[in-house]
Amino acid sequence: MAKSNIVWHDHSVSRDSRETRLGQRGIVVWFTGLSGCGKSTIVNALDQLLFDAGRATTVLDGDNIRHGLCSPPERLAEEHSDEFAKRFGLGFGETDREENIRRIGSVAALMAASGLITLTAFVSPYRRDRDRVRKIVNDQREGDFVEVFVDTPLEICEARDPKGLYKKARAGEIKNFTGISDPYEAPENPEIHLRGGDDRTPVDQATEVLGLLADRMKLA
Ligand code: PPS
Repeated sequence: MAKSNIVWHDHSVSRDSRETRLGQRGIVVWFTGLSGCGKSTIVNALDQLLFDAGRATTVLDGDNIRHGLCSPPERLAEEHSDEFAKRFGLGFGETDREENIRRIGSVAALMAASGLITLTAFVSPYRRDRDRVRKIVNDQREGDFVEVFVDTPLEICEARDPKGLYKKARAGEIKNFTGISDPYEAPENPEIHLRGGDDRTPVDQATEVLGLLADRMKLA
């Protein structure tokens, strides 16, 4: 393969200076789990707790990111050519999910390097894709990637079915649906393992995560 002519450019405001001003370390807190497991709700509650405590945060959430950076082909086709939409739009096949997580991982790493506590909520069903993000983030600085497995049993996610997607997937109206017609590879060694589907509220779960993050967010 030909050598790339692209070189990395360092900017004069360093990561250290940004983090010192914010009084925190930028980290990526990566929530993964089935559709309907509660990850977006917990991320939202955690974001609110962090914000109320004066932290600088940002949230990357699957449904929202698929309205822009990782739009599906049918959405892109509204404003671009069919060829463009087909080439750059992302659906839910394995390769499209790989590219979805690659794009988001790259954005999350940039945000953490800007000093932000970056919360993400993606199904991210493939271990290899999550591990690639882990490597990108930890290569910037070891220990900055925190994987949170929201471990809610499929039966509970399906019973909740907040968007009616499981019903459609069972009826064969949605292909490649995680947990039904597509795999979910559970994390083997997540930094945080949250059991979902019990009596605890999203705020309880977010509070548990917050406690476990305390040391990681501290400046050295
Ligand atoms: S992935 O696997 O990480 O690329 O998926 P993600 O970007 O997080 O998008 C998941 C949300 O898209 C909806 N949706 C599907 N999920 C899983 N499988 C299929 N086939 C699918 N089709 C649409 C679903 O609402 C997911 O949102 P959450 O919040 O996880 O329920």
